[in-house]
Formats: sequence, C-alpha cells, structure tokens
Amino acid sequence: MIKTIDVKSGETAGLYQYLSSAITPRPIAFVSTIDKSGNKNLSPFSFFNVFSVNPPILVFSPVRRMRNNTSKHTLDNVLQLKECVISLVTEDIAQQVSLSSCDFDSETNEFEKAGFTEIKSDLVSPPRVKESPINFECKINEVIPLGEEGGAGSLVLCEVLKIHIDETVLDKNNAIDPLKLNIVSRLGSNWYGRTTKDSLYEIAKPISRIGMGFDNLPEKIRNSKILTGNELAILASAESIPQKISPENNLSSFEKHTIAKQLLLDGKYEEAWQILL
Ligand SMILES: Cc1cc2nc3c(=O)[nH]c(=O)nc-3n(C[C@H](O)[C@H](O)[C@H](O)COP(=O)(O)O)c2cc1C
Repeated sequence: MIKTIDVKSGETAGLYQYLSSAITPRPIAFVSTIDKSGNKNLSPFSFFNVFSVNPPILVFSPVRRMRNNTSKHTLDNVLQLKECVISLVTEDIAQQVSLSSCDFDSETNEFEKAGFTEIKSDLVSPPRVKESPINFECKINEVIPLGEEGGAGSLVLCEVLKIHIDETVLDKNNAIDPLKLNIVSRLGSNWYGRTTKDSLYEIAKPISRIGMGFDNLPEKIRNSKILTGNELAILASAESIPQKISPENNLSSFEKHTIAKQLLLDGKYEEAWQILL
C-alpha cells in the first residue's frame, strides 16, 4: 500500500514532518550574522547545501515560524547586513549547536549562550566559530522569499569569499577526510547522523568509461531473481560485456547467480562476470 498526500488539494497537515523526515540526511549550516545595531546571532539551518562552485554559492533557508508567522532573526539580519559566516557542525559540537537553536531574543548572543568562541573574520563583520573545523566567510548575493505564510522559507544565496579549514581534518593530500571531519547530519524528528567508518562505503565511479547500462545486459542476467538492482548496476557499469576467458562451467543458472552475488559483495566484479557468461 502507498500513502498518498494530495498537497495541492490542501492536505498540508504533517507536511513539515513528511518533508523534513524524507529529505535526509541534510548537512547543517551554523550561521553567524549581525544586525544593524551590532547584535550577534548564531543559529543552525539544515535546509542547506552547496549549489555552485564557480562562483562558490551556498544556500540556506530560514523558515517563517509556523506558530505566529514571524521571521527568524537570521533572516532579519542578512537583510540588514549582507554578510554571514557559515560554519559546519561536527559531532563534537552538536549538543551546543542544538542549544543555540532555542528561540532566544534578538539581543542574545548565542556564541555566549551555547559556549562558543568568537574569532574575528578577515573579510566580513560576523565572527566565525573557533570550535568548528570549517568556516566559510560569505557575502549575501540575494534573498529570495518563497512565500508569506508560516512555514515559508527564504533562500539566502551566500557567495563564499574565504574558507578556513582546520588542518586536523585533512589527509596527506590536503583533501578533507570525511572520517576526520565527522560531520553531523540532520534527519527527521530528533534524529541526527554521524559520519563513522561503519556508516560509509565507496561506489567506484566508471570515470574513464561509459557504463553499458541495464538495457545492454543479457536478458538472463537482467531478469535475475537473485541479483539485486544494485548488483546489476555494478555489472552494467562495465563498458561492454566482457569476453569469456574462464573455462566452461556446468553450473545451473541459480548457482551462477548465487556465486556472482558473493563475488560482487567481495568487490570482484570481473570474476562475477566470468561466472555469469
Ligand atoms: C539542527 C537544526 C537545524 C535547523 N534547521 C532549520 C532550518 O533549516 N530552517 C529554519 O527555519 N530553522 C531551522 N532550525 C531552527 C532554528 O535554528 C531556530 O528556529 C533558531 O531559533 C533560529 O534562530 P534565529 O531566530 O536567531 O535566527 C534548525 C534547528 C536545528 C537544531
């Protein structure tokens, strides 16, 4: 059975829950801003991502409060002073970040409330967060309101001017090591994700070749009752059907597919192809 929600016909109760629990995991922007009187603000936003590399553009979205349709201080601030620092959230600081998300009044400095240390930024007025290993100094290029009701987001388009990266999260090639960074992600309800070794795996991309695709798999393989879509995708990532170089076997189709499945699990996709041919 499929549950269908007809949003266009006004079935909007629970929409926040469905959207925020479905579109997961989300990275979290920890956004430092200042209002025109100089009040500092620091708040997390998981409606956030990177949308362009050149120019480097990050976008986050403060949503109008559902209960009284007021705007978040962060939104008010970026409309007044078009600058921010976006810091990334790691497991070490996740509880403090959660504390900073309380509805403090606009004069409250969440750096102080949540125990963070301000570092003066180089190019913008809002300070950056010492405890975060990656900070982006940004200017705000544009703010696009998406509606006027409670729940309406505003896209805040931030152009990155300077990036600060703690070298402890870099590997020997100066690339960011996801395990050293241990970024925290936001899921639905009160759930958060960490970035640990047992939650990560690699998918080897067919970089120098174009995968032949499912449509070019022999029918007997494509219609396998044993190999999953993921496993067929590994086979279909080969450029073409490999030549058979292994001796003929008398295995049944069930046996071939079962052995191939295990070989694919072990990362031996060439051997898997040979058994199947
Ligand atoms: C991890 C996390 C992610 C959040 N993401 C968002 C978001 O994407 N949009 C939003 O409007 N509020 C989000 N919130 C809630 C805001 O942080 C909260 O409303 C905060 O009080 C806003 O502060 P401000 O009014 O000082 O800007 C999030 C809260 C947490 C803890």
